[in-house]
Amino acid sequence: MVRLKTKVGGLTLRHPVMTGSGVLGDNPDLIERLINEGAPSAIVTKTLTKSRREGYLPPVIVDLGCDSFLNAVGLANPGIDVVRELVMAGMKYSTPVIVSIAGSDVEEFAYLASVSESSGASAIELNLSCPHVKGLGAELGRDPNITYEVVRNVRSVIKVPLWIKLGPWDNVIDVASKSLSGGADALVLVNTLRGMKIDIYSGRPILTAHIGGLSGRALHPIAVRVVYEVYREFKCDIVGVGGVFDYEGVIEFLLAGARAVQVVSALIKNPPTIIRELVRGIEGYMSELGFKDLDEIVGYAHKK
Ligand SMILES: Cc1cc2nc3c(=O)[nH]c(=O)nc-3n(C[C@H](O)[C@H](O)[C@H](O)COP(=O)(O)O)c2cc1C
Repeated sequence: MVRLKTKVGGLTLRHPVMTGSGVLGDNPDLIERLINEGAPSAIVTKTLTKSRREGYLPPVIVDLGCDSFLNAVGLANPGIDVVRELVMAGMKYSTPVIVSIAGSDVEEFAYLASVSESSGASAIELNLSCPHVKGLGAELGRDPNITYEVVRNVRSVIKVPLWIKLGPWDNVIDVASKSLSGGADALVLVNTLRGMKIDIYSGRPILTAHIGGLSGRALHPIAVRVVYEVYREFKCDIVGVGGVFDYEGVIEFLLAGARAVQVVSALIKNPPTIIRELVRGIEGYMSELGFKDLDEIVGYAHKK
């Protein structure tokens, strides 16, 4: 028997695989489907904003092949008013729901966080890293000082765990440092990396927004590197995200220092049961190599 339980950013989870923000997390029925079929240890909602957003016109996602994607959905979401319904869908099955939010300034972030907390969120994830929406996300989260202000302010109005999601930027160590000193309980690493695809016959950028975010397997080695560097610097609680399609991807994140992972792009082309397969794969790996507790793997690569 191996022990898969993990403590991360103020939550205790049955196993280390949760679903990340973006796919199947903006509707209670889809959340119930994810839980019933995939049994993730937690769910992160689609990022919610103060008001409903329609997002960009299609095409909003490009399949690049090799399990890699570019997307510029434009943070389309039903708005914070649905937060209670989303949280209740998870509560029905005792699955923690982490509410992802994005505001346009410090006050809006604090407002969205307190509404989420009073609606029963298990934790709040601040999306400070969406790479393709003006005035939200990366425009704020690339700046270490703004990040500090947002995190500190949100921390002062909520009691539930606070997770900060960052992008794979060159200054990620600075921004991580400010997030932690502002009171973050965990860092979620990473959001998508800016990228572009052009149709060579029309000469037109394929995504309506022109520039999108790279996700999937192509992002995985970058995400593992960011987790490794941030863990080496701060030994903090980290949730790894980027290109997890198989149990090997989960194990790499754990070895680099993550205590849990999120899965997003793999749910575009696979049914939610992929989460169960990942968990079985982790168990098999641990038994084969003689690890009894997940804690033995976390950060192991730093001892080498
Ligand atoms: C279609 C799509 C929509 C996404 N929407 C969000 C979002 O609303 N909020 C967020 O923080 N990240 C969003 N992401 C980023 C993912 O949560 C994740 O950080 C990124 O895709 C890397 O993980 P992956 O390779 O498993 O997809 C989205 C990704 C995709 C592919």
